[in-house]
Amino acid sequence: MFVRNAWYVAATPDEIDKDDRPLGRTVCGAAMVFFRGPDGAVTAVEDFCPHRGAPLSLGRVVEGKLVCGYHGLEMGCDGKVVAMPGQRVRGFPPIRHYPTVEQSGFIWVWPGDAEKADASKIHPLPWADNPECAFGGGLFHVKCDYRLMIDNLMDLTHETYVHSTSIGQKEIDEATPVTKVEGDEVVLSRFMNGIIAPPFWQLALRSHELPDHAPVDRWQICRFSPPSHVMIEVGVALAGQGGFDADPKVKAAATVVDFLTPETETTMWYFWGMARHFRPQDKALTAQIREGQSKIFAEDLAMLERQQCNLSAQPERKLLMLNIDSGGVQSRKVIERLMAAEQS
Ligand code: FES
Ligand SMILES: [Fe+2]
Repeated sequence: MFVRNAWYVAATPDEIDKDDRPLGRTVCGAAMVFFRGPDGAVTAVEDFCPHRGAPLSLGRVVEGKLVCGYHGLEMGCDGKVVAMPGQRVRGFPPIRHYPTVEQSGFIWVWPGDAEKADASKIHPLPWADNPECAFGGGLFHVKCDYRLMIDNLMDLTHETYVHSTSIGQKEIDEATPVTKVEGDEVVLSRFMNGIIAPPFWQLALRSHELPDHAPVDRWQICRFSPPSHVMIEVGVALAGQGGFDADPKVKAAATVVDFLTPETETTMWYFWGMARHFRPQDKALTAQIREGQSKIFAEDLAMLERQQCNLSAQPERKLLMLNIDSGGVQSRKVIERLMAAEQS
């Protein structure tokens, strides 16, 4: 079960702009195919040809129509059949069309009731069009329940162990996390003052021309927003200068971007990235951070996929719930509440 009446990140534009191939992608258990219509706007329909059920994603896009790769049926961007060689198509049943929007560098899809889709409710990304910010990111397919990734991102104590060579440090364990529920959002914050930055943040300080071994105040503010977005404000500022609120000249700050799109109950698409608020013009730094972040998230993947194997093998087994798990627990409660509201 998933929250369906919500906007999910389905793809990035480069995934459908490579060639004349459409993009097949399953979101919340629904097999969809994404392509650009004659006006260039992105659209999504069921990945199911109404003729014999072939996946339309194995076809080609010709002049804004999706041509089935089996017998040449031509599908329009609204799910209605346009033509088929040697056939009259007027009586052909339409297939499902999914509301789709391209915004802030992502393609968003609404898997639920189309009449409820409101593009103004798409998650705002203030950094996306801000020249003071630079974004670098990527996509991983992960074999785990997307809620395990929410748990992971809403509890950064794992950094000390999973990411010991980059962003982990023992002070994370020692700083008490504070969890707040604000409507449908869950915010978990942790502040570590007067510490020495771990390797990733030393690099950030150096690239910002700040001393990399000076004491700093470090913050992590994780914000879950439904259906499955986690944005994390992270950074370090020279100690005693206001921390998160310090002048940009004395801090290195960024937003870690995580769109966790369920594919099935036990697999997901992980759109990850970092919007950096320092040296935005430095493309080499963007590439360097992207590579570093990719390695860090690969460490999470290895853990989460094995965790999913364990949970799938013993689905009845009860797990412990500790104070460090409160961010994930509260986020799951929001998801459950929204799913219950959709069911009723
Ligand atoms: S299955 Fe698509 S045209 Fe026959
Ligand atoms: Fe991690």
